[in-house]
This record gives sequence, structure tokens and C-alpha cells, in this order.
Amino acid sequence: MVQPHNLPRHVAIIMDGNGRWAKRRGLPRIEGHRKGADSVRDVVRASRELGLKALTLYAFSSQNWDRPMEEVRSLMELLRDYVVEERAEIMDNEIRLVTIGDRSRLPEFVRDPLEELIRDSAENSQMTLCLALSYGGRESIVAAARRLAEAAVAGEIIPSDIDAQSFAQELSTRMLPELDLVIRTSGEQRISNFLLWEAAYAELYFIDTLWPDFSRTTLYQAIEAFQGRERRFGLTSEQVRLRRL
Ligand code: IPE
Ligand code: IPE
Ligand code: MG
Repeated sequence: MVQPHNLPRHVAIIMDGNGRWAKRRGLPRIEGHRKGADSVRDVVRASRELGLKALTLYAFSSQNWDRPMEEVRSLMELLRDYVVEERAEIMDNEIRLVTIGDRSRLPEFVRDPLEELIRDSAENSQMTLCLALSYGGRESIVAAARRLAEAAVAGEIIPSDIDAQSFAQELSTRMLPELDLVIRTSGEQRISNFLLWEAAYAELYFIDTLWPDFSRTTLYQAIEAFQGRERRFGLTSEQVRLRRL
């Protein structure tokens, strides 16, 4: 059972395995992506009901642009459909939609409805749904470093002002709570350029389930596992227990 206290504030999911789900059924890869979109709907709803503060979904990486053109096109169409079809549910449930990643690379037919919903949902405060689109962790760190370098050259800061805290403020995730839990589906045990900085002390949870088979029940299992772990942040177990008293 998920305990209502001790919930992770911010959960991020690497939604992997759509292609393999389809292949196992003799279907084209896009059918896996389509089914995967249903999992997204279920998981967003469950996260909101549980009371998570933020949910980040890795929907499309910077590297995914190099996939076959037809697959990229289909993924963009699914993304547009998601934004258009979920608009009412997002607004009704007071979810704030944000994105991380290079939005300028998205085609206009996605960007327009997406940016409209980002604007319209900006004041919603029950949960933040963050879509990682055209996102790469390294790209994001490099962009932050570049902005700080520019600020230093412009004389706005001095290099010794830069520390982990001020650096984090330059990242696109600055509007999200600290990352507590990263889930990856499909049996792969790697980060694939996701939230590299932010995952510093996140708990990692890898499961074999393919993303189209993921449901709210799988999310609950991941959160239960999270709740059973001791997060030490470099301290000893005794220190951690004393602090909890
Ligand atoms: C995840 O599923 C979706 C995206 C990366 C866009 P995949 O398409 O990577 O599925 P597999 O890994 O090939 O099974
Ligand atoms: C990571 O999955 C990206 C998304 C889930 C959007 P990939 O399928 O692209 O990652 P690799 O290629 O297995 O590392
Ligand atoms: Mg994959």
C-alpha cells in the first residue's frame, strides 16, 4: 500500500519499450507509441489523485530526432493529439503543464497548441506535469553553463559566485521540486541522457514492464518501493534516523 505521507514530491519516468511492445505483436512501432499514450493518460491521472507535486515524462530525447523520419513524424502527431485531447482534463484538474528541452525544434503543429496550453495552465497549482521534449540532460547542462559564462563576460556575476545552488537555478527544471524518484521501464538500466544533474540523489527504479503495459498499479509499486528505501544523502544510517526523530 502506498503511504499517503512520505510521497515522492517529484517523480520522473523514462517511458521506454513502445517499439518492443509492438514488435512482439507483429505491429508497426507506432502502434506501441499509440498504446503508450494511453499509459500516459492513466499515469497522469493517478499521479494527480495520489497528490504528487510534479511528474516529469521523458517523451522525446534530443537523440530521438535521429530516428526514421516517419517515426518522428508519427510521434509528433501523437504528441499534438495528446495536447489537444487532454486539454480539458488538464484544466479541470488544475494541472500546470510545462516542458523542458528545445521547444524551438518542434514542428509548429505541435508547438502552437502546446504553447497555448502551457500559457492557459500556468496558474494551475495542484500538480505540475512536465514533458521532456527534444530534451537532453547534457544539452541542458551545457545551456546553463553557457548562460553563466555569458553573464560572467557581461560582468553580471563573478565566477566564484557559481555554486551548485546557483547553477541549478539556471536549469530548466528550476521550477520543479527536487527529483525524488526516477522510473525506467522496459528492462534497460541506463539514464539515456535524462535529468543528469537532477538525478544526483534520486532513487532509481528499473522494471521490465514495457511502457504500453504500464498502469497506475505499476506506479503504485514503484512508489511503495521508494517508500521502503532509506535515503541517506551521504550521511550514516544512524544520522538519518536521528534526524527523523
Ligand atoms: C520509448 O519507446 C518511446 C520513445 C523513445 C519516443 P521506444 O520507441 O524507445 O521503444 P523501444 O525501446 O524501441 O522498444
Ligand atoms: C529514452 O529512450 C528516451 C525516451 C524514453 C523518450 P530511448 O529508447 O531513446 O533510449 P536508448 O536508446 O535505449 O538509450
Ligand atoms: Mg527505447
